[in-house]
Amino acid sequence: MHARAVAASTTALLGTAALLLPLPPARAAADTGPHPVVVAHRGASAYAPENTLAAVDKAAALDVEWVENDVQRTRDGALVVLHDDSLQRTTDVEEVFPDRSPWKVKDFTAAEIARLDAGSWFAPAYAGTRVPTLQQFLDRMERHDQKLLLELKNPQLYPGIERETLKVLANEGWLDPGHTGGRLVVQSFSADSVRTVHALKPAVRTGFLGTPPVADLPSYASFADQINPSHGSISAPYVAAVHGFRGPHGTRMQVHTWTVNDAAAARRVAGFGVDGIITNTPDVVRDAVGG
Ligand code: G3P
Ligand code: CA
Repeated sequence: MHARAVAASTTALLGTAALLLPLPPARAAADTGPHPVVVAHRGASAYAPENTLAAVDKAAALDVEWVENDVQRTRDGALVVLHDDSLQRTTDVEEVFPDRSPWKVKDFTAAEIARLDAGSWFAPAYAGTRVPTLQQFLDRMERHDQKLLLELKNPQLYPGIERETLKVLANEGWLDPGHTGGRLVVQSFSADSVRTVHALKPAVRTGFLGTPPVADLPSYASFADQINPSHGSISAPYVAAVHGFRGPHGTRMQVHTWTVNDAAAARRVAGFGVDGIITNTPDVVRDAVGG
């Protein structure tokens, strides 16, 4: 066969094969439009104990820029990173302080919490991992040049935590334009708390955790840049409705949805047009949707 004819038939065959073979996931995602941002939920918490510096390091090792965390307050006024309002599930507090049930964060001093092991519950390899202070968490993230989605957790338990959190952020250099312009969002399930953060420091971008009715979105748009709903609660029309508003910084309101830990769910919400996916398995989600 003539060389050109061989090339032509080879091309034809490859073309047929290309039609039959599925694209690898990242390529398929790349062909469908912009990628959602991937956010490591409580750090890369499928692979390291949640809300610890090890989980931040793991996110960095996976090349994941955005990390989510949960901030609460100790009895003596320190801000620490922990999800539950009790220390029971993710530390050895029951062994160290057996008489202090129900082991609420707000009833322990920072020095007491610093004694706890926050890694053994997850895996023996993480024995000795500590509950980080917000300051330690920020320092580690700065070292990795990461971006923070900071959740004020249970703010009703800690009156004034909005101002105190902003103070730590300021002291650590996280309220300069380089950070507020694209490396920091403060979110909460409490609309009052988000409103307070916006009023105290309008430069900070904010997010409301939940799925408010579309009719209420105009009022949220006055103080929240993001509406961040659970992934089971959203649809393409809902995401489009949020996108129809501009937040307090004059940009289109965004949707960052949680907690999406498998490829199929990630592709589903990416198809809805979400701006971000908050996940314990950032590598799995990134492989599914790109980003
Ligand atoms: O960032 C969203 C997500 O963290 C909200 O739920 O309970 O994991 O803090 P939760
Ligand atoms: Ca959270």
